[in-house]
Amino acid sequence: MADVIKSLLEGNKKWVEAIKGGSPGFFDELSKGQSPEVLWIGCSDSRVPVNQVTGSDPGTIFVQRNIANMVVLTDNNLLSVVYYAVKHLKVKHIVVCGHYGCGGVQAAMSNQSFGFLDSWLSGLKGVYAKHERELDGISDDLSRFDRFVELNVVEQVENLSRVFFIQEEWAKGEVPQIHGLVFDLKTGQLKDLGVSRSSGQGLTGIFKFNW
Ligand code: CO
Repeated sequence: MADVIKSLLEGNKKWVEAIKGGSPGFFDELSKGQSPEVLWIGCSDSRVPVNQVTGSDPGTIFVQRNIANMVVLTDNNLLSVVYYAVKHLKVKHIVVCGHYGCGGVQAAMSNQSFGFLDSWLSGLKGVYAKHERELDGISDDLSRFDRFVELNVVEQVENLSRVFFIQEEWAKGEVPQIHGLVFDLKTGQLKDLGVSRSSGQGLTGIFKFNW
C-alpha cells in the first residue's frame, strides 16, 4: 500500500483511540444520526479543514467545498447540498468561507488560461468585473488579491440569497442566516466580514421571488 494511504489509516487508528479515550460512547452517538446547525460552503484548499479550524466535533457542520467557495446557481451538486441542509437538516446558519491566498481567486485575477478550469474561473472573473473600479484602484498586488477574496465571499453570500428555496424559508422566519467569513492562513484566524443576511432585503428586485 502506498505510504500516504498507510499513514492515513494509521492516523485514523490513533484518532479513534484518542476519541474513545476521552469519550467512550462517542461513536455510538455519532452513528445515531446528524443534526448539524451549520452548513459550511468553503474552498477545497487543503489548508482550510473545516472542523479543525473551527474546533468543531464531527456531526456539527454540514460541508460543501469547491474551488474558491463559489455559489453557482446552476451547480446541482451545491444546490442539492444546500437544499438538503436547509429543508431537511434545518440548519440555522450557512457560512460562506473564503481564504486569503486562495489559488482559485489568484488564477482568476490573471490573464493566463488554466484550460478546463477557465469555465469555473469565469464566475470569479465576473466578480472582479463587477468590482473592477475598486480592485483596479488598489495598487498593491497583495492588498488587491486580499480584497478580491473578500468581495468574492460577499458576492457568494448574495448568490445564496437568490436561491428560491432559501427565500421560501425566509418567508417563514429569519432562518437560515447566511454569513460571510474569511480564513487567514498566516494567523489561522477567521474573520467575520459583517455581511450576514436573514432576509431578502437589499436584493435587486428581479431576484426576489413571490411567496
Ligand atoms: Co482557495
